[in-house]
Amino acid sequence: MQNKKTYDRATQDVGNILGMEHVNVTVPDQAIASTFYVSGLGLTRDPYMMVGPGNMWVNIGQQQFHLPASEPQVFRGHIGVVVPDLDALQTRLERVQKRLADTAFRWSAKKSYVAVTCPWGNQLRCYAPRPQFGSMTLGLPYIEMPVAPRTARGICQFYQEVMHTPASVLQERGAAVAQVQVGRSQVLRFRETSKAIPAYDGHHIAVYVANFSAPHTFLKRHKLITQESDDHQYRFQAIVHPKTGKLLCELEHEVRSLFHPMYERELVNRNAGQSIFSYQKGQDAFAA
Ligand SMILES: [Fe+2]
Repeated sequence: MQNKKTYDRATQDVGNILGMEHVNVTVPDQAIASTFYVSGLGLTRDPYMMVGPGNMWVNIGQQQFHLPASEPQVFRGHIGVVVPDLDALQTRLERVQKRLADTAFRWSAKKSYVAVTCPWGNQLRCYAPRPQFGSMTLGLPYIEMPVAPRTARGICQFYQEVMHTPASVLQERGAAVAQVQVGRSQVLRFRETSKAIPAYDGHHIAVYVANFSAPHTFLKRHKLITQESDDHQYRFQAIVHPKTGKLLCELEHEVRSLFHPMYERELVNRNAGQSIFSYQKGQDAFAA
């Protein structure tokens, strides 16, 4: 018998960008970074890769922060973070407060998230899991960066036409926001603002794409490729209007194919609730 119910099949579409895997910001002091990202946020240093003082990868669910040692970089906006327990997060942040006292580290509980500033000024918004973030219980669900007035529409078109992924322009609190779908439960957000936007300092994000060559064809034709890294990866930095070529904003994208050896790499995540005083045997690993 024919089912009379109708469905919006477009809600189940996934575009060309399948995932944002990492946010890369350089840090000048690994001990301070470790205090913040590992002890404070409760995340896990990658035990297999970048294990020396020159770089540190910090796992957060299926995503990572990449933290090479250098002058500090600051993402111009904020990074959405999902952690399993906001109360436990605040307890950990209180514990590292003293050790990070001479840095830009700050945090405060807001109505629906905990606002956290890293020791060098990166803004994070930490949320408990919620339907908006799909099944994510630990991870990076979104980034949101400020962009100049009257650029959101063009940014949306760039991701639709060049990156071949769904995007739309939303009106939120009086501002246009270009929202780009990434896989099932991540988004890139570009919020228009009339306020001054700091100069771009070279931080980057990494994304995996199903169709690797189509964006490359456009980007190469417009001389926007900044690095031909290897067989599986290239980079670009300029987000331009696909018709006019006008520069709309800058954010380096490390674009990876699904043949990249690190695609779907299993990342080690720990149970941040373990402590020497209340140790639970067999509970070391993070349970989603
Ligand atoms: Fe990277």
